[in-house]
Parts: sequence; C-alpha cells; structure tokens
Amino acid sequence: MGGFRKPNLLIFIELVLLWCWLLRFGSTLVLVVGQQQQQQQQRVTVPSERVALIQLRSSLGLRARDWPIKPDPCTSWKGIECSSNGSVIGINISGFRRTRIGGLNPQFDVDALGNLTNLVSFNASLFELPGRIPEWFGFRLDSLQVLDLHSCSINGSIPLSLGRLSRLTTLDLSSNDLSGVVPSTLGQLVNLNILDLSHNSLNGSIPDSFSSLRNLSFLDMSSNSLSRPIPRGIGVLQNLRTLNLSNNSLMSVIPPQLGDLRGLVDLDLSFNSLVNSLPLEFRGMRRLRTMVLGNNKLSGSLPDDLFPVLTRLEIVDLSHNNFTGVVPDALWSISALRLVDISGNTFTGILPNITLSRNATAAVLNLSNNEFYGGLNLVLQTFSSIDISGNYFEGKLPEYVNDGASVRANCLQHATGQRTKEECSSFYASKDLVFDNFGLPSSDVTPGAGQVPKKKSHKRTIILAAVLGGIGLLLLLLLLLILFICSRRRHGTRQRGNGVGPIPPTGAVPPSPGVAINFSSLGDSFTYQQLVDATSNFSDLNLIKNGHSGDLYRGLLEGGISVVVKKINLNSVKRESYLVELDFFSKITHPRLVPLLGYCLDQENEKYLVYKYMPNADLSSSLFRKVNTDDTLQSLDWITRLKIAIGVAEGLCYLHHECTPPFVHRDIQASSILLDDKFEVRLGSLNDVCIQEGDSQPGVITRLLRLPQTSEQGPSGSQTSTCAYDVYCFGKVLLELVTGKLGISSSNDTSMKEWMDQTLPCINMYDKELVTKIVDPSLIYDEDLLEEVWAMAIVARSCLNPKSSRRPLMRYILRALENPLKVVREENVGSGRLRTTSSRGSWNASVFGSWRQSLDVGAAPPAPRVEGTGSLKRSGTSGSQGSGQVGGNDNSSSQRRQSREIFQEPVDVHDIERPETR
Ligand SMILES: *[C@@H]1O[C@H](CO)[C@@H](O)[C@H](O)[C@H]1NC(C)=O
Ligand SMILES: *[C@@H]1O[C@H](CO)[C@@H](O)[C@H](O)[C@H]1NC(C)=O
Ligand SMILES: *[C@@H]1O[C@H](CO)[C@@H](O)[C@H](O)[C@H]1NC(C)=O
Ligand SMILES: *[C@@H]1O[C@H](CO)[C@@H](O)[C@H](O)[C@H]1NC(C)=O
Ligand SMILES: *[C@@H]1O[C@H](CO)[C@@H](O)[C@H](O)[C@H]1NC(C)=O
Ligand SMILES: *[C@@H]1O[C@H](CO)[C@@H](O)[C@H](O)[C@H]1NC(C)=O
Ligand SMILES: *[C@@H]1O[C@H](CO)[C@@H](O)[C@H](O)[C@H]1NC(C)=O
Repeated sequence: MGGFRKPNLLIFIELVLLWCWLLRFGSTLVLVVGQQQQQQQQRVTVPSERVALIQLRSSLGLRARDWPIKPDPCTSWKGIECSSNGSVIGINISGFRRTRIGGLNPQFDVDALGNLTNLVSFNASLFELPGRIPEWFGFRLDSLQVLDLHSCSINGSIPLSLGRLSRLTTLDLSSNDLSGVVPSTLGQLVNLNILDLSHNSLNGSIPDSFSSLRNLSFLDMSSNSLSRPIPRGIGVLQNLRTLNLSNNSLMSVIPPQLGDLRGLVDLDLSFNSLVNSLPLEFRGMRRLRTMVLGNNKLSGSLPDDLFPVLTRLEIVDLSHNNFTGVVPDALWSISALRLVDISGNTFTGILPNITLSRNATAAVLNLSNNEFYGGLNLVLQTFSSIDISGNYFEGKLPEYVNDGASVRANCLQHATGQRTKEECSSFYASKDLVFDNFGLPSSDVTPGAGQVPKKKSHKRTIILAAVLGGIGLLLLLLLLLILFICSRRRHGTRQRGNGVGPIPPTGAVPPSPGVAINFSSLGDSFTYQQLVDATSNFSDLNLIKNGHSGDLYRGLLEGGISVVVKKINLNSVKRESYLVELDFFSKITHPRLVPLLGYCLDQENEKYLVYKYMPNADLSSSLFRKVNTDDTLQSLDWITRLKIAIGVAEGLCYLHHECTPPFVHRDIQASSILLDDKFEVRLGSLNDVCIQEGDSQPGVITRLLRLPQTSEQGPSGSQTSTCAYDVYCFGKVLLELVTGKLGISSSNDTSMKEWMDQTLPCINMYDKELVTKIVDPSLIYDEDLLEEVWAMAIVARSCLNPKSSRRPLMRYILRALENPLKVVREENVGSGRLRTTSSRGSWNASVFGSWRQSLDVGAAPPAPRVEGTGSLKRSGTSGSQGSGQVGGNDNSSSQRRQSREIFQEPVDVHDIERPETR
C-alpha cells in the first residue's frame, strides 16, 4: 500500500500547482479585460496628478495591491476619488498597510499631496505617519474640506497655517501625540462642523477664538492636558451637539454661558478641576441627553429648577464631586434616565417614595458613598442595577432590590457588612432622628420609627422655635428698618448725581452725561462719516421706521456688517433717553438683548446708536408675512410663537431676577421684540429701561404697609416702573401670539380694552374648547398643540391680572411656558408628593394662584360670581407702587430656602392650584 501512495501524492501536488497557475493566469486575464472596459467608460487621471500620486505611492510605501502601478489611479486605485475631469478630489488610505520596505522607516512624507490642487478630502486615519503635520498644508491644500488624521502617530504641534484651510468642515487629529498649544488660528475655520482633537497631549487653553466656529456641531478635546478656565464664548456655538472636554485639567468655574447651548445633546466635562456649583443656566440645554460632570470639585446643592426642564436626560453622572444637599425629586422622575451616578458626594436626605412608568430593565443607579438615610423605597424599583453602599439607609431590604445590588456599609436590617450600631445611631442623632436599631427592640423607641423625630425633642423643638421665632421677628423688623433708611439714603444719592433735565416722573434715573458711563464696554465709537457712508447719507430708502425714540435706518458697515442705526434728534427726544440706554448697555449684555455695536456722539444735536441688524425685524412685522407678491399672509407657526414667548420671558427674567437692582423694560410690545435669523428673541427698545422703582429693599416695607389697600388704581407714571408692569405688557404679547390679533400689545385705547373684555372670558382653566373661539384662525393645530395654545392663554390671562400684586413673577411665567403641557395636564406627574413638593408646584401655584385669584372667578362656569373681569376696564395697566417689589423680596427668600417649599403668593397662600379645593 505504501508504494501506491507516493505517486498519488505527486500527482496531487502537480494538480494543485496547475490549478494555481491557471487561476492566476485566468484572473489576470479577467482583470485586464475588466480594466480595459473601465478605462473606456471613465476618464483618466490628469497626467500631472497621476505623477503626484505615484510619488505619494512611493514616499508612503503603499502596496501594489491597493495602488497598482499600471492602471490609471482614477479608475482602479483603492480609495481615490476623482472629479469628472480626472482631477483627484479624494484620497482615503484609511487603514492601509505599507509594503514591508515602506514599513521599515515610515515618515509623514506627503509632499506630492501639494500638487493635487483640487483635493477635497484626505483620510489617512489608522495609517502610520510618524512626524509633524507639514506647515505647507495650510498654504497649498486650499480646497481641502475633510482632513482625517485620526490615529496616525503624528507628533509635534498643530501648525498655525491650518487656520488658513477655510473650507474645512471636518478636522480630526485625534489619538496622536500632538503637543503644544491649540493654535487660536483654528478659530478661522468658520465652516468647521466636526473638530476632534481628543487623545493628544495638547496643553494651554481652549482658544477664545473658538467662539467664531459658529457651524461647529461636534467638539471633542477630551484627554489632553488643557488647563485654564473654559472660555465663556463657547456659549455662542448654537449648533453644538456634542461638547467633550473630559480628562483635562480645566479649572475654575463652568461658565454659565454654556447654558446657551440650546442644541447640546452630549456634554462631558468629567475629570477636570472645575469648582462651582451646577449652573442653573443649564436649563437652557433642553435637548441634553448626556450630562457627565463627574470627578471635578463641583460643590453646592443641585438647583431645584434644573431637572424639571431637562426632561430628555438619559445619563447623569455627577459622581466624585463635593455636591451637598438633597437631590431634587424632579431628577428621579425624568422618564428617559438610563444611568444616574451621583456616588462619592455628600448628598443627603431620604429617597422619594415614588414610582414611575419608566422602563427599569436597563437603568443603572449608583448612590454609593453619600449620606442618604431613611428607608429604601419605591424609587429604587425604577432601576435594575443598584449600588447604594456607603450610606445610612435603614430598615428592611425591599424585595425589588435584587440580589445583585450592592448594599454594603449601610444601617440595613438582615444584611451583611453593615455599619456598627454606634455609627448609625450617631449619624441619625446628628440629623435629629432616631435610628431603628436594625429592627431590634430598644428601650425607648419602637422599631421602624426611624424617620419620626423623638417626641421629647419634638416638644423641645417647638418651644425653641417659638422663642427663636420671636427673637427672629424682632431682628427682622430691625433689619427692615435699617434697610429702609439705607435705601432712602441711596435714593437720595442717586438723585443728587443726576445733573441735567427734570427727573422723569417715571422713576428712570439717567446718569449724568459723560461721567457714569463706561464707554469701553459699549462697542465701537463710530465717526459720523462712517455712519453716513453706511446708510447712504441716511437715505429714505434705508429708513426702517420712525420710532418714538429716534429714526431707525438700515446700514452696511465697511466690513459688510449689516447694522441698524438709530438717529436720535435731541430737539425732539429727551436728552436722557439715549444716555439711559448707553448707561444700560455699559452695564448689561445678555443674549436676549439686542447687541449694541457702537455709537457716535460727535454731532451736537444728533446722536447715533448702532445695533446689530436683525434679519427678521420684530414680532409685529413677523407674525404675519406677505408671501411673494400677492397679498396672502403667512403666519408664524406655533413652535416659533412658543419659542418667541419663551425668549421674551428669558430676557425679562434676566432683567427682573438676575440684575441687582432689577431693571424694568417698560416698553414690552410686539415691536420691541426683535428676531434674528433663527427667530431667537433679542429685546430692543431699551431707551425706557429703568431700575425698578426704589430698589427691592424698601419694597418690603412699602408692601407691608400697603397690604390692606387694594392696588386697583388708575395708571399713573410710577406704575410703569415696576416689574409687574412688564408682566402685564408681556401678557398682552402672549395674547397677541395666541389670537394673532395684531397691535394688542402696542395699544391701550378703549376699543382694545373692550376687545380684551370679550376675549379673556374665553380663557378658562377648566374648559379647553372655549379657547378655540379666540385662537388665531390661521394657526393650524392638532389636539396636542391646542393644549399648548390653551396653556399660553392661561399664562397670558394670569399676567393680565388687574391687580399688579397678583401677577406672577417672570421666572414662574418662564417655567410655565417651558412646560406648557404641565400647566394644563394635571395628571402628568406620577405622585401627589411630587406635585406638592417639587419646584413645579411653585410655578404652577404662582401662575394658577394669581390667575384664580381675581379673574377666574368670573369665568369658571361652576361659580358664576362676576367681579374680576369688570375691573379690567378701569385698571388695565395699573399696578401698585409697592407690589412689584414682591419679586425681589421673594427671590431672596426662596433662594435662601433652596425653594423646596411651595411658592407662596404674597397674600393668598391657601388659594392655589387645585380646582377641587374651591
Ligand atoms: C476639474 O474640476 C474641478 C472641479 O471639480 C475644477 O476646480 C478644476 O479646475 C478642473 N480641472 C481641470 C484641469 O479642468
Ligand atoms: C476608506 O478606506 C477604507 C479601507 O479601504 C474603507 O474600509 C473605508 O470604507 C473607506 N472609507 C470611506 C469613507 O470611503
Ligand atoms: C509639484 O509641485 C512642486 C512644487 O510646487 C513642483 O516643483 C513640481 O514640479 C510639481 N510636480 C508636478 C508633477 O507638477
Ligand atoms: C476616514 O475613514 C475611516 C475608515 O473608513 C472612516 O471611519 C472615517 O469616517 C473617515 N473619516 C471621515 C472624516 O470621513
Ligand atoms: C453651516 O453648515 C450648513 C450645513 O450644515 C451650511 O449650509 C452653512 O452654509 C454653513 N454655514 C457657514 C457659515 O459655514
Ligand atoms: C468624552 O471623551 C472620553 C474620552 O476622551 C470618553 O471616554 C467619553 O465617553 C466621552 N464622552 C461622551 C459623552 O461621549
Ligand atoms: C411608599 O409607598 C408605598 C405605596 O405607595 C407604601 O406601601 C410604603 O409604605 C411607602 N413607604 C414609605 C417608606 O413611606
């Protein structure tokens, strides 16, 4: 058998060789034929570019498999893309391997690229290019739009010249060994959409110039050695979806301006040295899905008002910071949550006993190493993977806490590895609570009563509270008296500083000219000639309108910047008017206010203010737009209307609640609401702005003293300088948005009042259908939208309360507008507990409280008592002098209490929220 096998094997080997040869020959034949066919179809590479590609091929040591020497590059090289005339526009050598020889000494040797003048995209990711990015890249690759050098072992610094590649939309230099600072020239890449510099050794700061990257949607600079604070200017990058700055050494505070990133979806600032508390401004990031702030030095407690707005959050990582206080209930009730990691802080409090209809199967919760206490309760049911170790939870393990949960180092019953009795008792004692002693009988307490304060200490507390309360009251009165006197003084000082003209009866206090105003913060000083040139000598063609504070002209500055120039004729307008405005702008800038670009005060009798041009003009002209030449009108859609309402509310909120002393706009109407190209609101008409009358402190006293009086008086000058006046005017704007009736907000005449008397009764909190009678007929809405319209109408009506003291504060209005469905849908939130204790309760209470107070009485069918609506006629714009100060007053106190309680209406604490209570 052995002799038989050998020749057999030989024959087999011969056969295999033959087969291989045939295969090779055959496939070459097929290839040649195929290529000839291809070449006939496609144009060949431009000869000079072909030479360049062949140079590139040899300098990079690419394999013949990928870039075969013979056939034409455009038709048959892998990863080459050509335009129809045979010019190379794309090179993708991503993941290519070099020849064995080429791999011996790999270099960043791509000089030939410079001859490919039409190259649009160069993708060499995952291809070894050890060496520096050549400086000439920026000078020769003019057409480049995509440069992907991800994971190429590049070293050295980023060349400044890259900033010249102004067409770049994608720049990915991630995962290399780049060092040095990030050149600020990159800020010139205004078309950049994706910028990934992550995983390098870049140091220095994030350049301020990045605020020019207006088209950026993805910014990843994570895992570098960046230090210094995060520039505030990043807040203007309105298209940003992803911001990842994790794993650096960024320090100082998180700029609140990041809250302006309305489109942001993923935010990661973890592993830095950021220090402040979580900015409330993050409320602006309504689309946020990922919030990763772990491993910083953040402190303070979480703002109550944040999470009710961030309803899309899926991942919340605040771990390993210095946060304190209780976790707002609103966080727990976000339905999209998949991961909550707040471990390693000093959070405390008991967990809310709420259930939610959340799909718990994949949700992860890590509360470890905090100071939570009390029983484990239902909120845990909404998570599938749980780590609560290192807290002070007591009581039994409920069955929904599964076996995989980590519960070590707590004070739980029947669980292993718990804290000692001493540790637990002393912790609970420090909270003035009694520890349940692991459920074992103990001499003076019943088991399980852990959350009930000791009876004895309870009594003691009451007595103590009474005594302290008494003393506190006395101190408070004393304090008020002092504040009263101080503020009188301050008032006096301000009036002395006022050099010219009569004091306007309205409470506006113009600064003395030239003294108080800090011109350095007011933009550019233009020459008269510049403005003449910009506006074609103030030609009538450029006249936008004759405003009551001056004539507005459209202009074009030398650099091609569109502006609006306000020409103020001092013969017809009060001199103070422009000084008030300049003074205001020298102190305040905010994204919701129209940007002042500069001024020109050269002329004797005419002064000029220069503003940024707003492409969509103002609300009064945008609500309905003429379409083409025929006279059909197209009206703004509801989403935009709501966005505008929120924008105005944000602007007013800033003036009323974030400025100290608070400012009153005094001219809120459709024509003051300017709209940029994206219909973002910029408030204009700021020449009437004034400080809220008498500051906030004396308001406490005035209010106390005036409390018994009704505030329904006819309008007089000083009434307009309270925040409540702005609220009233805003109510009219909202009504205009709902009904589409133009001109409501700018008018005060009798016919308008009559119209309001007819309209307001159609806004009823218990009857959605009624509102359809007044809704703008040009609005197309479905059922869902109608609820939002209805909600806005309800808010409008509460703002139009004739009693100024009963109008809601701007910040509650803002919150109501941000959550319109919650205004009208009571069953929206899972439990009664939430409704009464979350911050939602507070704005709801505020809006409804004031609404029910006087207006609702006449309108709700079940209780037809008519009193409120009639009074509207007499006192539409009135307000009591003191009542506006409610804002400042309540502001401070609710901040002090971390606003965990229900917002209390100044007078009618009990009369809120639920219709059933009536
Ligand atoms: C080829 O087309 C590109 C546009 O794709 C153009 O910029 C270039 O000038 C053309 N080149 C030649 C040689 O015609
Ligand atoms: C780039 O080339 C690689 C390797 O040939 C290929 O896998 C990849 O799909 C190409 N990418 C693009 C965007 O063409
Ligand atoms: C490539 O560019 C270099 C420098 O501009 C030039 O000297 C060279 O002649 C060019 N090569 C080709 C093939 O055009
Ligand atoms: C570069 O090529 C890789 C591999 O195909 C791809 O994943 C990557 O998206 C490309 N880069 C760009 C910017 O298109
Ligand atoms: C920004 O990107 C969009 C498309 O994403 C583009 O249409 C627009 O021209 C870009 N704007 C600028 C200033 O580059
Ligand atoms: C940010 O970058 C780091 C690595 O640098 C990564 O681990 C993390 O997942 C990124 N964060 C987000 C939100 O994508
Ligand atoms: C939580 O609520 C459930 C039912 O709603 C109740 O059975 C349970 O006793 C409550 N737990 C606590 C600690 O209040």
